[in-house]
Amino acid sequence: MTIIVTGGAGFIGSNFIFYWLREHPEDRVICLDKLTYAGNLSTLAPVMDKPNFRFVKLDICDRAGVEALFAEEKPEIVVNFAAESHVDRSIESPEIFLQTNIIGTSVLMDASRKYGVRRYHQVSTDEVYGDLPLDRPDLFFTEETPIHTSSPYSSSKAGADLLTLAYYRTYGLPVTVSRCSNNYGPYHFPEKLIPLMIINALHNQPLPVYGQGINVRDWLYVEDHCRAIDLILQRGTVGEVYNVGGHNEMRNIDIVKLICHKLGKPESLITYVTDRKGHDMRYAIDPSKIHRELGWLPETRFSDGIKKTIQWYLENESWWKPIISGEYRNYYEKMYGSREKLS
Ligand code: NAD
Ligand code: DAU
Repeated sequence: MTIIVTGGAGFIGSNFIFYWLREHPEDRVICLDKLTYAGNLSTLAPVMDKPNFRFVKLDICDRAGVEALFAEEKPEIVVNFAAESHVDRSIESPEIFLQTNIIGTSVLMDASRKYGVRRYHQVSTDEVYGDLPLDRPDLFFTEETPIHTSSPYSSSKAGADLLTLAYYRTYGLPVTVSRCSNNYGPYHFPEKLIPLMIINALHNQPLPVYGQGINVRDWLYVEDHCRAIDLILQRGTVGEVYNVGGHNEMRNIDIVKLICHKLGKPESLITYVTDRKGHDMRYAIDPSKIHRELGWLPETRFSDGIKKTIQWYLENESWWKPIISGEYRNYYEKMYGSREKLS
């Protein structure tokens, strides 16, 4: 069986490729990735020489290129991780988010229709549901929660979701959609909360917490997300949406303090800075559908996952050092250099 994984040089996509090659060694995996700032070919070094793995540098918006690849490889399954994924960048420059996340998805689905793929899976996010209030801990996102987005990023992901479900209804394309909560683990790009705080703390640099740090995210170890997608591909119902999350809600400030504690760094490094525009307060997934229908449950407890993650960053400086010294440095200066300090 041949599976095309888009965005496989990024955080979750690369973890998914490692997972798939380990769990399904008989399959052929094609990674299609544009290698934007977030894509890192060195991440895929451990699998690059495998005879059942192929890397193709390609933009999912390149219709001719995508069609040629599908014609050549005749994939049975397509899993679309490729996206512009960072909320802060979407606030600065929305257009590329619309291009990649919406147009790119339609290009992939057109090719999937043309070449008769058995399953097109769209990797979506809990951010399409908007946010929940902090004073209603009884509320969770279910698959029936209305789409109600806050940022250009989440709006572009919602657009892609709706398009995916429309391709099912209109053309009968066999699609599934997963909406997962915040992932963490190895190969997480240093612009995101957990790796940014680990790396800054290691350098005794300020830890920039947006607003009061009371926003809540629902953290899931990346491998649990990969296993959920595998189950959806194997036994999920076509045309359906599955929420994925592990009931692990934490306030940002508590995560940052935990990282300080684990690394033996003082909390005085924490610096409260100007809040993110339109900042979602709380995400919380109700995963009962995927548990009930597919038997999925998270396997990694946060206390173990965060320990493994911190250890991974300690042992893999050679992965993140080149990132933080390159183009990313300009981004960091732009995003944080002018950000007003609140304390
Ligand atoms: P990431 O930014 O780490 O990786 C994105 C990858 O997509 C990179 O390798 C990049 O080069 C590639 N890419 C970007 N534009 C492309 C294009 N036009 N053509 C081909 N490749 C392109 O992102 P991530 O955190 O791994 O997220 C992967 C997917 O999962 C995204 O769709 C995201 O919306 C979704 N998601 C992420 C999380 C999370 O917590 N990170 C949670 C739920 C859902
Ligand atoms: O919920 C799933 C989403 O999780 C995915 O769809 C996105 O692709 C992914 O980037 C992530 O979005 P968030 O905005 O939740 O993640 P981020 O790591 O950017 O921020 C997590 C929280 O931490 C958020 O409340 C903002 C805050 N934050 C973030 C950064 C980078 C800070 O306080 N300081 C920071 O420097």
